[in-house]
Amino acid sequence: MTANRAIGWGMEALPRIVRGEGSYLYDAAGRRYLDGSGGPAAFSIGHGNREVNAAIAAQLEQVACGYRYLFSSEPLEQLTSLLLARCGPQFGHIVYSGSGSEAVESAMKLALPYWNARGLPAKRHFVARERSYHGNTLGALSASGFLERRRPFEGSLLDVSFVSAANAYRPLGGLAGAELTAALADELDARIAALGSQRVAAFIFEPVVGAAGGVVPAPPGYAQAVRAVCDRHEVLVISDEVMCGAGRCGTWRALEHEGVVPDIMAVGKGLAAG
Ligand SMILES: Cc1ncc(COP(=O)(O)O)c(C=O)c1O
Repeated sequence: MTANRAIGWGMEALPRIVRGEGSYLYDAAGRRYLDGSGGPAAFSIGHGNREVNAAIAAQLEQVACGYRYLFSSEPLEQLTSLLLARCGPQFGHIVYSGSGSEAVESAMKLALPYWNARGLPAKRHFVARERSYHGNTLGALSASGFLERRRPFEGSLLDVSFVSAANAYRPLGGLAGAELTAALADELDARIAALGSQRVAAFIFEPVVGAAGGVVPAPPGYAQAVRAVCDRHEVLVISDEVMCGAGRCGTWRALEHEGVVPDIMAVGKGLAAG
C-alpha cells in the first residue's frame, strides 16, 4: 500500500474485491461490478467457474508442478496436444511460461538462436509498431510503442525500430482501405531495407491491438502484406496474440482470419482464463 501511494497509482482508493461469480465481481461492502472487459481481457470463462476450480483443486492434490527440465506430466502433454491441434500443422513446438510478457519475451529470444543456427548471427534487431503493447519485461516493453509505460525505463530498453500503427481510424497519411494497407507494408519494407535485412531478426505485431489502443484491428490484407514483406527480407514474423488469440476473435488464432501463419506466436490471458 505504501509503495502504491509513493508512486501515485491511487490504488488505495480502489474497491477491495472479495468474490467473483460469472461476469460479476463483489467488493467488501457487497457492491456488485459487471466485469465488462474480463479484467485485462483475460477471464474468458468468467469468475469462480466451479468445474475449473474443482479440476485445479484435484490436480493440486496430485502434484502442483513437475519442473520442466526434469519431468513431463499428463496435464502438460494433454495441453500440448490440444494446443498443437488448435494452432494447426505449421506449429511444431510450444514453450510454456507464466505470463503474456514472458511469452513475448520467449518469442523474441527464440528468434535469436534461430538465426544463429541458420548461420546469420547478425540478425539481432527487432521492428515493432507504434501504439502497441507487448508486456512489462524489458524485452517485451522495448518492443512496445506505449510511451507512458516505457518512460520510466528509457535508457535501459533494447534499440527497437518502430513503424506506424495499423489503425484505420487514425490512418497513416489519411489513407483508407487497400491504399492504407499498401502504405503500411511499404513503410515496413523501407524500414527493414534501411536497417539492412541482414541485421533484422523479426517483426512483432498484435493482429488486434489491445492495451495500447482498445481493440484496434488492422486494415484488411495487412497481415498478408507484412508477411510478404518479411518473407522477402528473410525476417521472422512474431504474432502477439496474448490478448486477441485463444478464440477471442472467433477463430483460435487471430491471424486465421487472413490465412496468415506467423513464425512464432505468443498466447496468454484467455488461454488460462486469468
Ligand atoms: C498484446 C499483449 N501482449 C502481452 C501482454 C502482457 O501480458 P501479461 O500482462 O500477461 O504479462 C499484454 C498485456 O496486456 C498484451 O495485451
